[in-house]
Amino acid sequence: MAIQIKSLDELKIMRQAGLLVAHTLDLMRESIKVGMRTDAIDAIAAANIKRGGATSNFKGYHGYPATICISLNEEIVHGIPGDRIIEDGDVVSIDCGAIINGWHGDAAFSVIVGKANPEDQKMLDVCEESMWRGIAAGKSGARLSDIGYAIEQYINSQGRYGILQEYGGHGIGTEMHQEPHVLNFGKAGNGPEITPGFALAIEPMITRGSAKTRVLADEWTVVSQDNSRGAHFENSYAIAPDGKPFVLTAIDGGRAKLASLGVEISSLLS
Ligand code: MF3
Ligand code: CO
Repeated sequence: MAIQIKSLDELKIMRQAGLLVAHTLDLMRESIKVGMRTDAIDAIAAANIKRGGATSNFKGYHGYPATICISLNEEIVHGIPGDRIIEDGDVVSIDCGAIINGWHGDAAFSVIVGKANPEDQKMLDVCEESMWRGIAAGKSGARLSDIGYAIEQYINSQGRYGILQEYGGHGIGTEMHQEPHVLNFGKAGNGPEITPGFALAIEPMITRGSAKTRVLADEWTVVSQDNSRGAHFENSYAIAPDGKPFVLTAIDGGRAKLASLGVEISSLLS
């Protein structure tokens, strides 16, 4: 399958899905508290997606049983909501998506609930900033691998973190996961040229220790092999027909954050 190039009208529908995902993530960020079960967060997301007139792209995906992925501490991604209780100081990573009229949005964030360990907070900040650097690097005319290069360079400039190798970003459109796969590391200057109509989910995943992971017996939850804590941030963004980017899953379209990196967003999707 070739990379799916989206028209402006299609990107406008993706923006609707992305904006609902952004609001749903915000709602979860505000609601999450020490003592809650992880499946209570899932219920909040499911209700909000339904209220938005959308459906979940996670539920039923290769048999996935829930609306969100929620991963605590040494769980890095793809944790299944259940009866686990959120404890003070836990690093919680939440990933969520939605479909509107057949078009997908996908985004994730990590947060520390309760009293934060400063080293954990630094890891989250580094992971989030690397995502924005990746998006800024993935501009029209750049090559795909420029994204992973920017992500890895930034992370390595900030300390010793493991960057997951087996998981990465992806094209997004009429499917949640499309070509191309987007590595979070590597050399610049390789791969397809990024052009208007590209839509990509950028999602660095890092740990405070080793990059090596294993999957639990539930066949989903990805944990670090050395039990080090991890972080995961994700946004879906597109290149509009004017050649400028727009972050579909950010409430402001990524305007503020990308401006601080010297990148102007498209006005075609606001
Ligand atoms: N949203 C994840 C990603 O970022 C995929 C989640 S897999 C699912 O690519 F099964 F939970 F949906
Ligand atoms: Co994704």
